[in-house]
Amino acid sequence: MVASRAGSLRALAPALHGRFENLQTLDDVDRAVCAWRDIVRQGLAAGQAWPEWINIPSKIGQVAAVRVLARQRRAEDLRRGILIAAISPGLIDTGASRQWLDMTGAPPPDEVAIPLLDLALEAASDAAFYGGLINLGRGEPGRFRTLVPWI
Ligand SMILES: NC(=O)c1ccc[n+]([C@@H]2O[C@H](COP(=O)([O-])OP(=O)(O)OC[C@H]3O[C@@H](n4cnc5c(N)ncnc54)[C@H](OP(=O)(O)O)[C@@H]3O)[C@@H](O)[C@H]2O)c1
Repeated sequence: MVASRAGSLRALAPALHGRFENLQTLDDVDRAVCAWRDIVRQGLAAGQAWPEWINIPSKIGQVAAVRVLARQRRAEDLRRGILIAAISPGLIDTGASRQWLDMTGAPPPDEVAIPLLDLALEAASDAAFYGGLINLGRGEPGRFRTLVPWI
């Protein structure tokens, strides 16, 4: 799942963490995201400490979905060498990002794909990465780096 550092609960006010922690099913994730949507529609988001930037709750919802899937599939996936993970790829110069952010120095998607493919092809047997939010490192070409904690 292409996620973001914004998918860490660190990006969300602590009072809201409970809405995304320990969700059991994808329907639970859907309900949590829809509840946020409804609060925004009602004009109550700021009063409840929801961030203005839509990217944060949407990426937290993505990471929560990955964690639910990972919990459900972990044993079988690790047996078969399948990796499910949320990826924080860092800034990438794309049509979407260019409209909103300064892309100076940001690599193109094909460059970022190299560590992503390394992760997919080399790390499937590393249980430490399974279900995690993973930061793609660019210090050394072709390698992934740090785990970004959920909180
Ligand atoms: N760029 C970054 O720096 C960065 C960093 C971290 C995470 N991300 C995340 O990576 C993901 C992809 O973003 P990107 O930067 O790679 O953007 P992008 O190159 O502009 O790609 C966006 C993709 O989303 C598709 N899309 C847009 N609206 C859609 C809709 N309503 N229904 C279905 N598909 C739709 C587009 O399809 P078409 O080409 O057919 O329009 C396109 O394939 C996003 O979730 C973004 O938040 C990006």
